[in-house]
Amino acid sequence: MSVVTVASNKGGTGKTTTAVSLSSALATLDSVTLVDLDAQGHAALSLGLDNRSGVFDWLVGKQPLTNCLLYAPGDLMVMPGDSRTKLVETYYREQPGGFDSLIERLRSLPSQWTVLDTAPGGFLQEAALAASDHVIVPFEPETLSLDGVYGTLALVDKLARSASVTLLPVAYDRRIAEHKQSLTELLDEYGTLMVADYIPARSAVKAAIANGESIWAHQHPRLGDVRVAYAKLVDRIRAHEQRRGGKDD
Ligand SMILES: Nc1ncnc2c1ncn2[C@@H]1O[C@H](COP(=O)(O)OP(=O)(O)O)[C@@H](O)[C@H]1O
Ligand SMILES: [Mg+2]
Repeated sequence: MSVVTVASNKGGTGKTTTAVSLSSALATLDSVTLVDLDAQGHAALSLGLDNRSGVFDWLVGKQPLTNCLLYAPGDLMVMPGDSRTKLVETYYREQPGGFDSLIERLRSLPSQWTVLDTAPGGFLQEAALAASDHVIVPFEPETLSLDGVYGTLALVDKLARSASVTLLPVAYDRRIAEHKQSLTELLDEYGTLMVADYIPARSAVKAAIANGESIWAHQHPRLGDVRVAYAKLVDRIRAHEQRRGGKDD
């Protein structure tokens, strides 16, 4: 069992797109549950599913897991979120030992992989980071977005010291000088061991999401290099997992 958290202290950096693309690809190999910890509920919507209160029902309502899951194409299990996800935070924050019991619950799903999509900042993001074996930090390679990367890395350092960390440049456009500069800055600082190959900017990604399909399912001639880049990310996370020993805990 392994937990992958997709997190960033900034909004709109490609977290949900990355969580959905990664989960859909992993689901062709292993059992996967994608958990939407963002009250916006975009993870289910971008897979063409309803955004319901799965996360609230499971974490607070203590309903059986089967009541809290939806199924996306390719056997991907999705625990959808909606505005009630905000109440999860209040519930666990007010309990003595609530942070630790939330971490335990996030790590208790029976699938081989649990992928956590998160909102920027806050209690749920911190619990997700503390629960994770692998952390992916997507960022748009712009100067201002780098602040989000550094902020997230500081949190990872505090909460997820033993997790593998991958910085993922998303919607990279090599014609934009600022993109090149920001990526070079991060590569100089962290190297290719931590910075993954970039995901190119393609409007076809937006089209797939609008259509309620993953990048793997959506038919579009301009998705090829996005798929290649996400497939490399999948390999990277699986390699990290192998190094971790694929421990069952
Ligand atoms: N590779 C890409 N090329 C172009 N647009 C992208 C790409 N990846 C994501 N996007 C778009 O960027 C926006 C933010 O992505 P999203 O995954 O929702 O970010 P977050 O979950 O961090 O808020 C969405 O409109 C999405 O369609
Ligand atoms: Mg999102």
